[in-house]
Amino acid sequence: MCGIVGYVGNRQALPIILQGLKSLEYRGYDSAGVVIVPEESGEELNIIRSQGKIAHLENVLEDYSLPGTVGIGHTRWATHGPPSDANAHPHCDCQKKIALAHNGIIENYLELQEWLIEKGHSFTSETDTEVLPHLVEEFYQGDLGQALQEAIKRLRGAYAIVAVCRDNPDILVAARKDSPLIIGIGEGENFFASDIPAVIEHTRQIIIMEDGETAQINREGAIIYKDGQPIAKKITKVDWTTETAKKGGYPHFMLKEIHEQPDALRHALKGRIMAEENGLTLIDHDFAGINAADIEKIAIVACGTSYHAGLVGKYVIEKMLRLPVDVDIASEYRYRDPIIDEKTLVIVISQSGETADTLAALRESKKRGAPTLAICNVLGSSISREADQVVYTLAGPEIAVASTKAYTTQLMLIYLLTLHLGRVFGKISPEELEVLLEHIYRLPDQLQNLLAEKEEDIKKLAALIIDWGNAFFIGRGIDYAVSLEGSLKLKEISYIHAEAYASGELKHGTLALIEEGIPVLAICTQRALLEKSLSNIKEVKARNAFVIAMVFEGSDSIIKEADRVFTIPDTLDILAPVLTIAPLQLLSYYAAVMLGCNVDQPRNLAKSVTVE
Ligand code: AGP
Repeated sequence: MCGIVGYVGNRQALPIILQGLKSLEYRGYDSAGVVIVPEESGEELNIIRSQGKIAHLENVLEDYSLPGTVGIGHTRWATHGPPSDANAHPHCDCQKKIALAHNGIIENYLELQEWLIEKGHSFTSETDTEVLPHLVEEFYQGDLGQALQEAIKRLRGAYAIVAVCRDNPDILVAARKDSPLIIGIGEGENFFASDIPAVIEHTRQIIIMEDGETAQINREGAIIYKDGQPIAKKITKVDWTTETAKKGGYPHFMLKEIHEQPDALRHALKGRIMAEENGLTLIDHDFAGINAADIEKIAIVACGTSYHAGLVGKYVIEKMLRLPVDVDIASEYRYRDPIIDEKTLVIVISQSGETADTLAALRESKKRGAPTLAICNVLGSSISREADQVVYTLAGPEIAVASTKAYTTQLMLIYLLTLHLGRVFGKISPEELEVLLEHIYRLPDQLQNLLAEKEEDIKKLAALIIDWGNAFFIGRGIDYAVSLEGSLKLKEISYIHAEAYASGELKHGTLALIEEGIPVLAICTQRALLEKSLSNIKEVKARNAFVIAMVFEGSDSIIKEADRVFTIPDTLDILAPVLTIAPLQLLSYYAAVMLGCNVDQPRNLAKSVTVE
């Protein structure tokens, strides 16, 4: 995710743009830049960019005078090309006549770049975005909007683009597909922005652009086009507070990020599973650098939620590839003299890419000659730079301390890695691959429907557990790995003590803690283990626990013993964690809200633990 702000009006553009970018920092903050149209005609566009947060850009701008009432700003969340001055937006054409900012991913940028270079264009960045101003330049014949409409016909991927041209200094043009873009309608001034917070201090009259639409704004107003034809659009009056607007209308970043998961999963899959006429294709160039032939075992190392994603990975990889997988908490791994060598693929998982223990474990692994692969969310982070290879979850910034969309997108990358290795090792047939791809590709929509339909039910369940100082999460197989993550969520944001237990292990001691009414979340999706899970439910029910069972739709009739049955959409057993974790995230969220906890910044915790 990145943040874009465009302004056309009668006030100085720069301060308005910078204020707007700051309100969009939750969308990305590794580099930023502005372009201001000079007041004197014929002068060059003023483009200032810098790596780092917007505050750093402000410091850089102190050395410049940039008068002007038209401009565009961008705050970046890198997806292609690490954070740097050269990779920051806005990007411009060869003549520095056209400048634009982009949010999204241009999947076919390499082929476009080749075509443009053949036509004489030169590139200065490592980004996918930079093909856009050169493409617009290629089609520009005096009408910027027309040129942008021609350019986007050649794009594959997601984009919100806002562009300006020195020759047409009083207009901004934009295009939107799969990345958000709104128009703010003011008095003698108009705005483009990635999200409402950027304009809410200036106007509450908003037009939401939709996929396939392009637009043009000047001081007088806005024209929106669909397939090149002007269309009428509704103006929405926004009544959010500025604070609420920063969270997309949600009361907390955590809830916003839980609901962002379907889109985050789509971004994680974009360019990696292609839907074509003849079905779905796995595009696994992200994993191409792994020397699979040399791998004899896999070690997964991480902390917290990322560690729990690694545990799911163990079940999936061992089941699909019959390859031994060790999973370690990084702070343990780095001091236990791990038995790894050049035949061990070490996978480090980290949302922030800065967790000290995980970084140390990565360095320890490299010292022992093991090939390393990082699964990260933050481009340019220490772990992403030091691992031999890195694949990105592309979940966008995760602001809440409690990790949600990072976890589910980490799972997605683990599935894709497994499919890749399965194909290389010949362990997954084309027919099996087709079935797996279909089920994986369906997950974002299934999760979206689950969140939309079941949130109220989960809120009711939360009310039933908040009076207990303790709760248990139990599961067998991959459900046990999910129960660990579910219990961590409840502990870290509601401060209710929760313990995750392998269902079959309860009777070896912990059953002594089961007393009347204590909440037990029983995750029972693994079909082969359902009967065993049922007997574990009976075991705790015999001690009068309050059991909330989570099962696939259709198997709820089996779990008659539970006090509440919560169903999730049907999918393959190994893919269940992507769906079972979401209700547990919401359960923890609503329990924390009901208990008056600081949901986004729980006590004692930091978003990234960069110390031992
Ligand atoms: C998750 O909700 C926690 N905030 C925490 O366990 C986190 O997952 C852990 O610190 C690892 O962080 P990383 O993924 O950035 O390395």
